[in-house]
Amino acid sequence: MTVAAPLLAVSNLRARYGSLPVLRGLGLSVATGEVRLLIGRNGSGKSTALKAILGLIAIDGGSIRLGEEELVPLTTRARLARGVALVPQAGSGGRGVFPHLTVRENLELMGAVAGDTPDFGIAWRLFPMLEGMARRRATMLSGGQQQMLAVAMAMMVRPRVLLLDEPTCGLARGPSLELMALLRRLADEQGLAVLLVEQNVSLTLDHVDSVSALRAGAVVAEVAPDTLRDPAWFTRVL
Ligand SMILES: Nc1ncnc2c1ncn2[C@@H]1O[C@H](COP(=O)(O)OP(=O)(O)OP(=O)(O)O)[C@@H](O)[C@H]1O
Ligand SMILES: [Mg+2]
Repeated sequence: MTVAAPLLAVSNLRARYGSLPVLRGLGLSVATGEVRLLIGRNGSGKSTALKAILGLIAIDGGSIRLGEEELVPLTTRARLARGVALVPQAGSGGRGVFPHLTVRENLELMGAVAGDTPDFGIAWRLFPMLEGMARRRATMLSGGQQQMLAVAMAMMVRPRVLLLDEPTCGLARGPSLELMALLRRLADEQGLAVLLVEQNVSLTLDHVDSVSALRAGAVVAEVAPDTLRDPAWFTRVL
């Protein structure tokens, strides 16, 4: 049996903010149909890694391959068009949704990146609740509904690689578990390669295939999810 080559392969990635090095030779890969969890302490560089993969920040060196293609020289838009999408971390700047646009307009915007007429069916099938809110401004949605919209927007890109930065932030346990199950299904049924940053590790363990642990901008361990069931592991490794 041949082992499938990774769809996303990041190697020796280096980046800094000003003089502060944040990524120090990061390497990881995600195969088609794989859900990989990326963990690490606050400030270890998880969000920076996802941003670098999409080209949202400049890097100092390294390689980001999508299949046979090197993404580093490409713009963010070109990376999106090739099927790399990001659900950004919620923060003071919101959840990556445009608050004054309607649900439909938010989806349309990301759909345009995919190149042709937006297929809203992708979003409505994933989150039927959103269809009834299509004309509502995103700012009028609850936190959880905005999070659904953020995931739906990324899926409008028709991604092959989906990057998610703490997507359950602000969600109750039920919807969080539903989201994890959804990611699993997208990987299994559509062959999506998923790279998931999630602090709430216990939510993920039944749904991820593999784990990369980041410390100070480099991957210090690659383990099976069951390894994380031992709480002592975190203090030992991270
Ligand atoms: N825009 C920025 N300008 C300067 N420094 C930044 C910027 N964004 C992040 N940093 C710094 O880079 C380091 C890594 O930040 P990053 O957001 O990647 O961490 P993280 O692992 O995602 O943390 P968290 O778990 O808190 O989300 C931190 O020391 C942070 O303070
Ligand atoms: Mg972060």
